[in-house]
Amino acid sequence: MTDHQAIELPTAEDIRSLVRPDHVHRRAYADPSVFQLEQDKIFGKLWIYVAHESQLKKPGDFVRTRLAEHEVLVTRGEDGKINVLKNRCPHRGARLCMADKGTSRLFSCPYHAWVFRPDGSLSSVPHKKSYPESFDLADPRNHMQRIEQIEIYRGFVFATLNENPEPLLKHLGEMTEVIDNLVDRAPDGEIEMADSVFSLEYRGNWKLHMENAADIFHPSFVHSSSVMPARRAPANASIIDQDQTREMLMANGFGFDEWEGIQLNGTPSGHTYMKNFYNRGVLSPEQQDPVVVRYRAALVARLGEEKAAHVLGMNRFNNIIYPNLIINAQYQQMRVATPLAVDRTLVRIFCFRLKGAPDEMFHRAVRFQTTLGSPASMIFSDDVEMLERCQQGLSKEEGPWVDFSRGLDSDRRAESGAVSGAASEMPMRVQFQAWVNYLTAEAA
Ligand code: FES
Ligand SMILES: [Fe+2]
Repeated sequence: MTDHQAIELPTAEDIRSLVRPDHVHRRAYADPSVFQLEQDKIFGKLWIYVAHESQLKKPGDFVRTRLAEHEVLVTRGEDGKINVLKNRCPHRGARLCMADKGTSRLFSCPYHAWVFRPDGSLSSVPHKKSYPESFDLADPRNHMQRIEQIEIYRGFVFATLNENPEPLLKHLGEMTEVIDNLVDRAPDGEIEMADSVFSLEYRGNWKLHMENAADIFHPSFVHSSSVMPARRAPANASIIDQDQTREMLMANGFGFDEWEGIQLNGTPSGHTYMKNFYNRGVLSPEQQDPVVVRYRAALVARLGEEKAAHVLGMNRFNNIIYPNLIINAQYQQMRVATPLAVDRTLVRIFCFRLKGAPDEMFHRAVRFQTTLGSPASMIFSDDVEMLERCQQGLSKEEGPWVDFSRGLDSDRRAESGAVSGAASEMPMRVQFQAWVNYLTAEAA
């Protein structure tokens, strides 16, 4: 981790000088002082997703994650409330918990065995009589540090270090629709995160992943080694999964003549998404096979025909909630990209079960994930190679500017921000405009 004190942070003027309407300076990806400023003013100020409530069903359940440069534990306390606590012992600073998730009614520090409750309060210390009389278990200075600002939207837990944040709903804006859509797809009205998560670290800046997830131009090149064989294969080539893999791969590598109808969207907060991208495969909106028919019937039973059709009809892919959450409701999945250093990013990929849906729906979502989204998939592994190659190039002094001009002349204004056709780099321009705004914002 960068030493905060040793680095001189860029000024607002420095930051503005890095972003032009159609170009971005390589320092945005490779300068440790810019990274530190991002940690302070983006990951330290915006609402950051930290957990899903289905991971915290009962008191003592916890997950370990990150909030800006802090490792945190998100816990369910004895009182049923959710806590976000710095994973650090107040005695001498030791990291307390090394498990990614679990259940524990008490957290014991491995060093001198101070013991904490899931709400961070100090339960006991060994050999209490050797501490001064003034030492008080109830003194908050002896407790794990709490992050006070927590908000939950339909089971998605967000936290922020910002003491005076804008309301979560304001930050999410129209992106609440995609969270709603994911939850509303469950016939029982609830989703549950799968126990296992795929994760990988790549040697590149976090923004490279966010750009890649908003980029429709690259798949037919980067993923051609899987898309082309899928295109050449006859229908029903894959009997194992009713052609799901083949269809998914084909749908991921559109040629230029198939971009009609795809729309890219960007908002001033930096959120972006694609409309009408995936139209094939067994989880696509048009699907009529027996599993989907059963699932649809269960959904209609709860929502009625009209609302169920509306829910299933939403075809929005790679919904990026700025800065680092990507939701795909249609595929029951989500990913989180966490910056670890200027040139190192952790990506975690989560899958959801729709409660009340046939089990096969979950199996299909897992199939989609293993085919396209997991670290060992035929698709994401290609992307990671590109992200690392970009970082290698951007780490060198030569050629300081990155080009984002594609589609600049054809972007259109919309009520919610900007829209464009598939070929445009509008989403990256929107992301960088928001980036400048956040990094140059005055402290409240
Ligand atoms: S550092 Fe945790 S008990 Fe001493
Ligand atoms: Fe890709």
